[in-house]
Amino acid sequence: MLGTGAAPRRVPAHSLRCRTALRRLDPLTPVAEAKGSMQRIVVLNPKGGSGKTTIAINLAAYFAARGESPVLMDFDPQGSSMRWARKRKPTQPPIFAIPAFERDSRMTRSWQLRVPQGTTRLIIDTPAAVDARTFPDVTRDADKILVPVLPSDIDLHTCSRCIADLLLIAKIRREDDRIGVVANRVRRNTVIYQSLMRFLQTLNIPIVTTLRDSQSYVRSAELGLGLHEMKSYLVREELEQWEPLIAWLGRGDGPVPAPQPSGPVPEALTTMPG
Ligand SMILES: Nc1ncnc2c1ncn2[C@@H]1O[C@H](COP(=O)(O)OP(=O)(O)OP(=O)(O)O)[C@@H](O)[C@H]1O
Ligand SMILES: [Mg+2]
Repeated sequence: MLGTGAAPRRVPAHSLRCRTALRRLDPLTPVAEAKGSMQRIVVLNPKGGSGKTTIAINLAAYFAARGESPVLMDFDPQGSSMRWARKRKPTQPPIFAIPAFERDSRMTRSWQLRVPQGTTRLIIDTPAAVDARTFPDVTRDADKILVPVLPSDIDLHTCSRCIADLLLIAKIRREDDRIGVVANRVRRNTVIYQSLMRFLQTLNIPIVTTLRDSQSYVRSAELGLGLHEMKSYLVREELEQWEPLIAWLGRGDGPVPAPQPSGPVPEALTTMPG
């Protein structure tokens, strides 16, 4: 079973979905039947606090700011992505956020997790402590899997385990270019940074970017903003660091992959306590 150490925070039923400033009332459709092209991005690392939510919310804000229609699906009972989405103002670019950690016995799971038609990106924020046995489900149909890692011995170890499990248990092939590591909260001129980079190179998995340790992430999250929505002169260096990540997401089939038959939302995550 999946779970985090923290007790799930209940979210009132009336806020099951957060149509944060939804631009238009697009009809909802189950993920499996989502029409058109939709890229699925899973942010995953069983290690708590590595930056999953930070990356997920910033991606959602980035794509929304570009005029795309992103959906942020929060599978973490802590509900951090949902809390962030609810802070957004109606004047901000819309992001459709779904508290996937909630269970609603009145409807089927796939009904609960419907996305607006025309969704271009589905960004999935996963909880800490996801069991590796669930990786095949968690990553099923994912176009890209982002694994954030912090520069510390403990985090290097869990990251290495996570990558090994993605390759061996989820059977993701390196050559498919679906897994990318994000070195997060990095301070460049430190010994641990050097060993992080050496270690990541040995995994033979792309390090898609390195994000500096910056209070701008904390401040923007508090405001319900993404970095790309902050005053650019305040976050210039941070924004530059997002460019390779955005480019990597667009690698392969283009920014949004060609339409393909999509399966249901990862079943493993639907077993989250709600
Ligand atoms: N690059 C960064 N610079 C500064 N602070 C950061 C950075 N990335 C993340 N943080 C902060 O670190 C903390 C943990 O980040 P985050 O919540 O994104 O991790 P997580 O992997 O989602 O955690 P959990 O496993 O508990 O869900 C947050 O307070 C976040 O604001
Ligand atoms: Mg999180």
